[in-house]
Amino acid sequence: MGLPSDFSRHVKSAADIVRIIGEQVRLKKSGNNYLGLCPFHQEKTPSFSVHSARQFYYCFGCGAKGDVFQFVIATERLSFPEAVRRVAQLAGIPVPQEVPYGGASSPEARLRAALHEVHQRALEFYRKQLQSSEASPLREIIRNRGVTAETVEEFGLGFAPGKGSSLASFLLKEGFPEKVLEESGLLLRRDSGGFRDRFRNRWIFPIAAENGKVVAFAGRAIGQEQPKYLNSPETPLYSKSHLLYNLFRAREAIRNSDSAVLVEGYMDAIAVHQAGVQNVVASCGTSLTQRQVQKLSRYGREVVVNYDPDLAGKTATDRSVSILLEEEMSVRILRLEGNMDPDQFIQKKGGEAYRAHLAEAEPFFRYLAARVLETHGKSTPEAKVAGLNFVLPFVAKVPNKLIRAELVADIAQKIDVSPGIVWDTFREAAVARRESFQLPRAATRIPSAEAMLIRLLLDSEESRQEVVPVLRQKDLLSEFEAGTIVSALVGMIEGGSAPDMASLADRLEEAQQRLLAEIVFDREARPVNIDEVSTYILALERKRVQRERVSLQHRIQEAQKQSDGQLAMELLREQQHIDRRLAELLQ
Ligand code: CTP
Ligand code: MN
Repeated sequence: MGLPSDFSRHVKSAADIVRIIGEQVRLKKSGNNYLGLCPFHQEKTPSFSVHSARQFYYCFGCGAKGDVFQFVIATERLSFPEAVRRVAQLAGIPVPQEVPYGGASSPEARLRAALHEVHQRALEFYRKQLQSSEASPLREIIRNRGVTAETVEEFGLGFAPGKGSSLASFLLKEGFPEKVLEESGLLLRRDSGGFRDRFRNRWIFPIAAENGKVVAFAGRAIGQEQPKYLNSPETPLYSKSHLLYNLFRAREAIRNSDSAVLVEGYMDAIAVHQAGVQNVVASCGTSLTQRQVQKLSRYGREVVVNYDPDLAGKTATDRSVSILLEEEMSVRILRLEGNMDPDQFIQKKGGEAYRAHLAEAEPFFRYLAARVLETHGKSTPEAKVAGLNFVLPFVAKVPNKLIRAELVADIAQKIDVSPGIVWDTFREAAVARRESFQLPRAATRIPSAEAMLIRLLLDSEESRQEVVPVLRQKDLLSEFEAGTIVSALVGMIEGGSAPDMASLADRLEEAQQRLLAEIVFDREARPVNIDEVSTYILALERKRVQRERVSLQHRIQEAQKQSDGQLAMELLREQQHIDRRLAELLQ
């Protein structure tokens, strides 16, 4: 049994698709629409469009499309009933009590629910194991690293025993189906049958999604074993490159301070958090992804990058700065003295010292200027050129002109060249910037009257009642260039359903979906006005009469060629008739 269908309709009309998608994608207003970077494929210039009035999204890059439900289904991997609930919750609409959760959910949704349960049980298992005698060396390590009991509790830290299948036995006893256990990634199938544990004799760090549910684990070696960290594999719940460690604990603090601290490792995040800095997240490993930044950008505009001071950390910092700038984040860099990562620094110097350094983190361009000197020096002209080439791509990514100018001046000063030269080099590099945040003029293929009529039919019940019978009666449906779209649309209307963009698009082939999106998202379209309906219809009629006139002229020429004077005369009379009608229509 599912949700009452009028409930989903109610949710859809009450929820604001722009706000809900805006939680996950940074959207900018562009004309009547909103534009952002598509979450469904990698892109640098935005082609993901959201229409607020029509409650519809469409990506001109990859063709992804749908309504608010389809969006959360695709991004959060939910079933339809789950999506309805989710959207209702986001929009603050109370969900009717009597509908059983997951009652009508898809097999995928049921699998995910089971996987969540497996992770929850595994979390409890690992935490309990941390109290076992086998874990006493680890408890010692944890204590020595300055991690408090409270932090252990808060972060759910645990221990995976060395015995090959203790989690496996535990979960099997809990009665989870084998398929679920295998998909969880926590167990590995043995060739000889049965399961063994992925994590053995490891320090366990639960990894939670943005909603706080555990979706994966990381296991750190207790001693020097390799690899130092072992991670859950990608599963239906977990995608490493999308997730930021600790984001769910940090997000309130990020929102409040409009700023996040970005560190590399699990231990760094934990130590920084324990030092009283709650807006900390870890990218877990070195490379920050665009998806991670997009998630972060929903909560705050600034990121303080505090990666390890080693070479890998520096390279990762450069790359992260680049991605952060592209996403128009404001970036500061924290470099800790004494070659320490945040965790080591805090262990040595304490939380207060860390917080003081954090407050003084330098704007990223100071850091870049220093990096230029460090990597290239300024002793020779060649070194300066190389330095400029290193740094200018970053400059190009800074959206704000003033900051860009400041940056150029700063760099020029650091490497002893005139700012003019830096600017010249910069212009030569002519790195494509995405200053213009706009789609190309759309739908030029479609006459504007026709596009207007389609928009009217979509938008206004009144115009539907008025227009559809007229189009039928005057037999104008075949005059539309976008004939397939109009037929589908009129079909829906005559079938008694209010035409909604998502279901209309579902009835069309991909090329037609795109055309429909072009018509709907046309940024130069004037607002539709039902008073102008007759004008649009006249335009269609004119078009038809003109078409008839052209074919008539062909026939006249043909008749004259055949020297059929009588036929030519008849046709000419017909042409006069048509011309009169045309004159009328043109009045
Ligand atoms: N990492 C990983 N796999 C590895 C090594 C590192 O996924 N084999 C990721 C982990 O997220 C780790 C981060 O990279 O937290 C940083 O690595 P590193 O600096 O080596 O570890 P620390 O977090 O500093 O751990 P510790 O302080 O215990 O050495
Ligand atoms: Mn460390």
